[in-house]
Amino acid sequence: MSPPEKRSALLRKVRLSLADLRQEGIEFLGRPLPGAPVERERFDPSSESDPVEGLRLIRENLGECTRCRLHEGRNRIVFGEGNPQAPVVFVGEGPGAEEDRTGRPFVGRAGELLTRIIESVGWQREDVYICNIVKCRPPKNRDPATDEVATCRPFLDRQLLTIRPKVIVTLGKPALSTLLGRNVAITKMRGIWLDWNGIPLLPTYHPAYLLRNYTRETRQAVWDDLRKVRARVDETSGS
Ligand code: URA
Repeated sequence: MSPPEKRSALLRKVRLSLADLRQEGIEFLGRPLPGAPVERERFDPSSESDPVEGLRLIRENLGECTRCRLHEGRNRIVFGEGNPQAPVVFVGEGPGAEEDRTGRPFVGRAGELLTRIIESVGWQREDVYICNIVKCRPPKNRDPATDEVATCRPFLDRQLLTIRPKVIVTLGKPALSTLLGRNVAITKMRGIWLDWNGIPLLPTYHPAYLLRNYTRETRQAVWDDLRKVRARVDETSGS
């Protein structure tokens, strides 16, 4: 491994460990007192190099989750699906009725549109990875509450850090606000390149918004965004 590769492998390890700690409710790390014994970090090296194993472990950690109230009304956990080595990860808001029934993300009407959007730039759904900020359906499709998002967030972070795609695409305001950690206006931010932990992030509209506002402008905006994403991926893959 070259020094820059070593450095990025180490950084990845640190990020995964921090995501683990956050999942356990630890939000702050202090310095140990002089002479205090230092706990060795728990780290499974297989998940570092193998995203299939990494995602399997995250799913296993999630288990039959009851960490927030969303579990009360759900039928199936919608963890996410797609290529563990995807060049692009799409992040939506939360499962709807069809997703809750099938356990798969974006399979309802908005999902059909998302699939067409992905295909419009020459990818298949199986080429990318698709997940949501919360893994259980909010009752009556309400927005997920802040505490529900915060509870589920470590799993999303770990999915993204494990796949480490070339680009993250957030769909709609909640996904973007969650990853940036602040409330943002999607209309102002869409189509602008941002950064999430060293990974380029491009926000675009949620396909459900597109279905409700199916105008030439909104369609053009999303297709423009996806073309940018495709170009960026192709640039960095040298194809
Ligand atoms: N909307 C989302 O945000 N996610 C899904 O999985 C389906 C619809």
